Amino acid sequence: MASAAHTTAARQPEGLPRGVSQRTLRAAYTRPVDTSDALDLAALADANMSPILGRYMDKSWSHGIGHRLYDTAGNSYLDFANGIAVTALGHAHPRVAAAVHAQVDRLMGPVHAIGFSEPTVKLAQMLADTLPDPLDSVLFLNSGSETIDAAIKLARRVTGRPAVIAFRGAFHGRTIGAMSVTTSSLNYRRGCEPLLPAVYITVYPGVYRYYGGDEQKAVADSLKHFDGLLSTTVSPDEVAAVVIEPVQGEGGYYPAPAAFLQGLRERCTRHGILLIADEVQSGYGRTGDMWAFQESGIVPDVVCVAKAIANGLPLSAVVASKDTMQAWGKGAHGTTYGGNPVACAAGVAVLETIAEEGLLENARARGAELLGGLRELMADSPAIGDVRGRGLMIGVEFVKDRASRIPDGSTADAVIERARDAGLLLLSCGMAHQVIRWIPPLDVTVAEVEESLRIFEGALRG
Ligand SMILES: Cc1ncc(COP(=O)(O)O)c(C=O)c1O
Repeated sequence: MASAAHTTAARQPEGLPRGVSQRTLRAAYTRPVDTSDALDLAALADANMSPILGRYMDKSWSHGIGHRLYDTAGNSYLDFANGIAVTALGHAHPRVAAAVHAQVDRLMGPVHAIGFSEPTVKLAQMLADTLPDPLDSVLFLNSGSETIDAAIKLARRVTGRPAVIAFRGAFHGRTIGAMSVTTSSLNYRRGCEPLLPAVYITVYPGVYRYYGGDEQKAVADSLKHFDGLLSTTVSPDEVAAVVIEPVQGEGGYYPAPAAFLQGLRERCTRHGILLIADEVQSGYGRTGDMWAFQESGIVPDVVCVAKAIANGLPLSAVVASKDTMQAWGKGAHGTTYGGNPVACAAGVAVLETIAEEGLLENARARGAELLGGLRELMADSPAIGDVRGRGLMIGVEFVKDRASRIPDGSTADAVIERARDAGLLLLSCGMAHQVIRWIPPLDVTVAEVEESLRIFEGALRG
């Protein structure tokens, strides 16, 4: 149970997004919270909710305001988990909430199969504008996994080839197609074979974990394995696609070095293979660029987008060139709910906010402060083997000792729990959940970064 230090009595306005009106502020802070009986939703859920879903925590959430989440007992938490990088503008963001309210009263139903709705068309334009040429054609879907399945289908149809190459440690989702290219944990795959045929898994350049920090070696070795696959196992003219997270997320927050992405791009172009960038977690300003692949200067053939796109409403997108989408073939794929007008109205508000509030700059500046602060803490914490990342996508990796780099998931878990008890929500990732991932909202403030570092320092000390 959280300590009294962060109960509702201590509600402060600094967690609210910039530009919030006095009316919204008053309404937010006078909203009643049921503290009488601290509703235990986990206990209630037990009767009828499937136990299949894994959870990082089983708290009962009442509501969220700005960057704070409130549980049913009235405790507030600085939310650096964001539903795993989903509520990138925090909770009840005034602009997003207003857009959703307005659209609900106007047109809520999915119109995809019978025509067009204004926010959907507008968001497609705005999304395409954030991407380099020739990525200008958007297919809206509902989840990250669905974008991966769709991208694989697209690649197979467009190239007329069967094979797909993916990377060890990757997480692309849980539908059959997406899990076939997922190897971040056996638990996602066990008992489900046979998965998609003609999927080949090769080495990912996890610079710290597998190469002890030697980036050049990581790039050379991973490209050597990739080339080896193409020369011994699957002929390049039978490969439809290469799927990669530009920053491996669930697998441990390992950024792919720019030289590796460039090497992949060159090979894909040479062999007529489509390069699919899974930007579901790393995209939308998370790394300080709109898209994580931009740092390397490459342009993928297909980009998969989800999570932050509608700040919490279910929406995702596959983006490719118009030519590629046309070659896929009309009616070859479809969706009932994809491009829902309410979700797209939220999506428009998200992109407007990112642009107008300079949130890419904020992600870079706050990210640099966070990275610097975490590296300072690392200096006094032998349990931390590495602090890495770009923008607001930072991984802190825990090890038994720095020489062996043996992953230490139990220390990471204990630190996360102590931070939570002190009012800061953090999540883990990595095969042994040894990495604490830092994914604050894109509009996180200087004060909140400092607050989070203070809490984390206390949690490290135990
Ligand atoms: C990189 C990446 N790809 C795909 C997915 C799957 O998205 P969803 O859970 O919306 O199906 C996730 C979700 O965590 C992800 O992080």
